[in-house]
Amino acid sequence: MIIEPKTRGFICLTSHPVGCEQNVLSQIDYIKSNPTTNGPKKVLVIGASTGFGLASRITSAYGSNASTIGVFFEKPPTEGRPASPGWYNSAAFETQAHKDGLYAKSINGDAFSNEIKAQTLKLIQDDLGKIDMVIYSLASPVRTHPDTGERFKSVLKPIGETFTNNTVDFHTGVVKEISIEPCSGDDIDNTIAVMGGEDWKMWIDLLKSADVLSEDFKTVAYSYIGPSLTEAVYRKGTIGRAKDHLEATAFEITDSLKDINGKGYVSVNKALVTQASSAIPVIPLYISLLYKVMKEEGIHEGCIEQIERLFNERLYAEDLQLDAEGRIRIDDWEMRDDIQAKVLELWKEATTETLPNIGDLDGYKTDFFNLFGFNVDGVDYDKDVNEMVAIPGLQ
Ligand code: NAI
Ligand code: NA
Repeated sequence: MIIEPKTRGFICLTSHPVGCEQNVLSQIDYIKSNPTTNGPKKVLVIGASTGFGLASRITSAYGSNASTIGVFFEKPPTEGRPASPGWYNSAAFETQAHKDGLYAKSINGDAFSNEIKAQTLKLIQDDLGKIDMVIYSLASPVRTHPDTGERFKSVLKPIGETFTNNTVDFHTGVVKEISIEPCSGDDIDNTIAVMGGEDWKMWIDLLKSADVLSEDFKTVAYSYIGPSLTEAVYRKGTIGRAKDHLEATAFEITDSLKDINGKGYVSVNKALVTQASSAIPVIPLYISLLYKVMKEEGIHEGCIEQIERLFNERLYAEDLQLDAEGRIRIDDWEMRDDIQAKVLELWKEATTETLPNIGDLDGYKTDFFNLFGFNVDGVDYDKDVNEMVAIPGLQ
């Protein structure tokens, strides 16, 4: 079939297998030319199909020849209906990994459930024995608690006061003010239940009790801080409470792994266009200004460059450069004073008329469509493609 982008609000309903494949191959090439010395060898990535998790899987596999198991929640294709992009990304990754003689298998299902955890544990026991790293990179709006069956929904709201600021509809380029009412009821607790650290700890507890974590094991989850501009809705909002919980969980995990000298870390990453971040109000306007400034300074990075730097200059360089809260910071370039000062200046000037010049709205849009395999260089979109692509290592 011929597949075209079909957008609805902040999501794209279609995705292109060849474009997704091209994205994955480009990331593989980047890592092949930036390998990791003494990198991980047997890695589980939870949330492995898109964004930072996919980049972590590729960095592990191609940076240090790691065997990888990927867990994700993606929609398979049906005749005439393309799969979700993470499906095609995983198909492309595993096809290439197998060609290159790398072990790569995957499990598609709800990582929050006991069933998927048990299935993953069995696969580790059968195929890998012990693993030396777990990357935890889930981004989800909902979680069904595995023990109680309660279904939690996360919300992106300020706490205490209404938040009013500008945002951009990146499809139309229209900049306008929005107001977000403060959270109420159980919003904070529900958001913590979905995006906090409980599920991460459940995974590690299970794997530890089954004795499949090797000596010096590491696990890393991803967090975000961001600028004062977005603070009320992000870091000091409901999602920020969940990130506080996730960050506190890293210390609990480290405590629970003392006998194997294991460590739990949080890495604070840069703001990037992903399916998760494009749904957050105000962030798209911030990102389009940030991209402009960081590209001008020659320090713009995507997911793969970020994770390559996390592995090569922090995790496996024996140089974690932890901040006062014990976090790894690869948002260091985003948060540089000169970068933030420039973004703040531009923010004051940003209108529908000025944004095309002062911001990188094109870069935002390109990245957004790239997530779904569209607007990718070198792909012929007029060519008929087979949507029924299989993931070769799917269990
Ligand atoms: P993403 O949307 O690209 O990836 C989410 C992954 O989670 C996908 O592999 C998806 O299949 C998987 N997933 C979602 N629900 C699942 C479920 N129930 N079971 C199994 N897999 C499931 O998201 P992104 O942006 O890569 O986010 C990953 C982490 O990085 C999140 O914790 C996010 O807060 C954090 N982060 C994101 C930043 C950004 O700007 N995008 C910046 C800093 C941190
Ligand atoms: Na991810």
